[in-house]
Amino acid sequence: KGCKLVGCGSAVPSLQVSNDDLAKVVDTSDEWISVRTGIRNRRILTGKESLTALAVEAAQKALEMAKVDPDDVDLVLLCTSTPEDLFGSAPQIQKALGCKGNPLAYDITAACSGFLLGLVSAACYIRGGGFNNVLVIGADVLSRYVDWTDRGTCILFGDAAGAVVVQACSSEEDGLFGFDLHSDGDGQRHLNASTMNENETDPGLGSNGSVLGFPPKRSSYSCIQMNGKEVFRLAVRYVPQSIESALEKAGLSGSSIDWLLLHQANRRIIDAVATRLEVPPERVISNLANYGNTSAASIPLALDEAVRSGKVKSGHMIAASGFGAGLTWGSAIVRW
Ligand code: ACO
Repeated sequence: KGCKLVGCGSAVPSLQVSNDDLAKVVDTSDEWISVRTGIRNRRILTGKESLTALAVEAAQKALEMAKVDPDDVDLVLLCTSTPEDLFGSAPQIQKALGCKGNPLAYDITAACSGFLLGLVSAACYIRGGGFNNVLVIGADVLSRYVDWTDRGTCILFGDAAGAVVVQACSSEEDGLFGFDLHSDGDGQRHLNASTMNENETDPGLGSNGSVLGFPPKRSSYSCIQMNGKEVFRLAVRYVPQSIESALEKAGLSGSSIDWLLLHQANRRIIDAVATRLEVPPERVISNLANYGNTSAASIPLALDEAVRSGKVKSGHMIAASGFGAGLTWGSAIVRW
């Protein structure tokens, strides 16, 4: 059994924040940010918007393009590290889409690599049998976990959602060729937003801050902590290796790839990977300048723009690769 991509969609918050806007709150400049990262604008979630609403909008557009009725969706995978419910936000999206038949819906947490993992998971479900239409949504609102006084990180991120519909097909039509996925927990120290345990004196913790003889803790998450140089170094090393491995597993060479579609983290990372793989700039998809690093949303957001603008056409081969916190990274060779 094969699987193929049959629709994509995306959604971004309405508020656009430029580098000049950020220079009013931290000691930075448009020049520094654009030269070091390639980012000029990003969208930031306001109080009236939500991760779930963005994800639903992106999913609806993808279903519309795919001409798939929400009732025919068998599985909803929400790739996010910023759910609105610690227990998972995917079922809320399934509900909002009105998928009758209560298809399985759950979250995948893998930061910027989340969408890649969701895509490969969808393919595995379909190939295993019993699943025909899988909605894979990448959505993140990292603005909620950014330290807005840290100029080293707050300039990088933006909020967005992107989605694709992966559909069962014959093996002749198969559109997912090879993939390569990895994690390295040792690298977590370079990029994380970990729990902070704090004793609190709220009534739920008992009058002396102790219940049942052990001191309960309330957890909250720290803002994003990042060693940018180390993350940069590892991304430039791991991503080309991963794409080469995915190509090898697919039995393809770099020359059969029409588009290189990397997680949109930093222009210099994208350029370095393209150079290493000898992919010319005109075959690299990038919308980083407008949206910054949107974590799990970045690949489907860039894909959606490229498809709707007519850049990516039916039958084109794409090498997609994500890299991010965990650390996690991975690549997939897909046909649009
Ligand atoms: N504006 C002005 N100056 C700044 C800013 C800023 N926004 N941020 C840092 N600086 C200063 C630093 O304080 C430092 O000053 P100093 O020399 O006086 O100490 C100087 O600029 C150089 O700082 P570095 O951190 O060394 O700058 P670098 O060239 O490494 O660029 C950057 C930083 C852009 C973050 C880069 O390391 C990078 O892009 N790394 C990859 C990060 C990334 O992509 N992370 C996300 C991937 S994973 C995921 O998506 C979750």
